[in-house]
Amino acid sequence: MDFATADLSERDAYKLLGSLVIPRPIAFVSTHSADGMLNCAPFSFFNAVGYAPPVVALGLEQWDDGREKDTGLNIRRTGEFVVNLVDEPLAEKMNLAAIDFPPEIDEFAEVGLTPAPSTRVAPPGIAEAPVRLECVRSALVQVGSKHTVVLGEVVSFHVRDDLIDAQKLHVSEAWRPIGRLFGGSYSRLDNRFDLPRVALDDWKNRSQT
Ligand SMILES: Cc1cc2nc3c(=O)[nH]c(=O)nc-3n(C[C@H](O)[C@H](O)[C@H](O)COP(=O)(O)O)c2cc1C
Repeated sequence: MDFATADLSERDAYKLLGSLVIPRPIAFVSTHSADGMLNCAPFSFFNAVGYAPPVVALGLEQWDDGREKDTGLNIRRTGEFVVNLVDEPLAEKMNLAAIDFPPEIDEFAEVGLTPAPSTRVAPPGIAEAPVRLECVRSALVQVGSKHTVVLGEVVSFHVRDDLIDAQKLHVSEAWRPIGRLFGGSYSRLDNRFDLPRVALDDWKNRSQT
């Protein structure tokens, strides 16, 4: 099957992209408004895109009337946000925080999450999240008519003690983030396999062994 994007509606392009590019990690983003109202919402158009410095990217959709989501407005106005990563115990509240609450609702209080003070940015993280990345906005890029891509530099990593060896920085298999599939479907990390990298010399010598 071959689908030219030019022949697809926006909705169908979303259906294809969103159900083919899976599983996607979930950024449960916490921010506050210019006057301090807390906000959190999940985004699966999300990934790590660089490490020197560490940079993450978020794809924030705008509403049909062109309005930005509260997360986008807050990042535009304050320049800071926290990406909270999501494991299964946090999944249900993450899903509730995706409800289109109006800006005057504090989603932490509304869905029963605990703000965790950040160390290097003003917005709090989510205490229930096993990993929190404190981020400073480095760019906001308007892409087409519907999306703002946010690039954020990670200025601090908080990792729950049992998930990491603090000396070696090895993350344990207890770190089990969920992945977004499509619609209301998610995946678990319970079927890992190993595939060691192949060095160029080993590849060249493969026929002689
Ligand atoms: C798992 C999940 C992933 C989502 N990913 C995105 C996304 O990548 N981009 C987006 O604009 N909205 C996404 N949403 C919808 C937003 O979370 C939702 O519109 C939310 O109300 C926005 O909140 P805000 O206005 O407080 O920023 C997602 C929702 C869920 C449940």
